[in-house]
Amino acid sequence: MNRTLLLLAHPALERSRIHRRLIRSLPPLEGLTLHDLYESYPRFDVDVAREQSLLTEHDLILIQHPFYWYSIPPLLKQWQDLVLEHGWAYGSKGTALRGKRLMHIVSTGGPRVAYQREGNNRFSMRELMAPLEQTARLCGMAFLPPYVIHGTHRLTVPEIERECERYRRVINDLCEGRLAPSAELRSATLDDVLSVEGPEARP
Ligand SMILES: Cc1cc2nc3c(=O)[nH]c(=O)nc-3n(C[C@H](O)[C@H](O)[C@H](O)COP(=O)(O)O)c2cc1C
Repeated sequence: MNRTLLLLAHPALERSRIHRRLIRSLPPLEGLTLHDLYESYPRFDVDVAREQSLLTEHDLILIQHPFYWYSIPPLLKQWQDLVLEHGWAYGSKGTALRGKRLMHIVSTGGPRVAYQREGNNRFSMRELMAPLEQTARLCGMAFLPPYVIHGTHRLTVPEIERECERYRRVINDLCEGRLAPSAELRSATLDDVLSVEGPEARP
């Protein structure tokens, strides 16, 4: 059983089609702490001590957000800037996060085909997420293949419901340690892992 922290960063959850349904579909799970950053800090006044102790108390960190301008929403950037302090998260004495594992759960308006060299966005998700990966590595965390949900604008309600089922299963399996994708898969997304190993992938 992993002590899992799910950090949600969505600036307008009330208008969300996908993240609101994903979050609402989650049952209470043993060992899982859900923390909604925009609900906690509507004025961006991130409580650094609280965030650092939440991180300290968990082994697996899931960061869930929509993709905004090929990056993260602004409060999540503020959270990174304030919480990942030198001497705490990185630097010779900054060892608080070492050995933890981090996975992003990210949705994009653009379809999967747009996120390749020949596509409209010219880069893969892993290439575009390189700063997030390197941030995790600098802090000594294993950056797991991200869980990416593409083409959100065109997803029908039944398709979103199917995604919610998959999401529930993935979060449950991650929490229980039944799903443990390797950080060595440097260009993979979780989809690649699941399609190779099947949804029952075991460590
Ligand atoms: C300010 C802003 C920037 C966005 N940037 C991107 C982007 O860079 N790439 C992309 O594929 N989608 C982008 N989108 C689309 C969002 O990722 C998409 O609306 C979101 O994943 C849908 O999730 P939701 O229904 O939970 O809000 C952007 C949306 C907004 C509002």
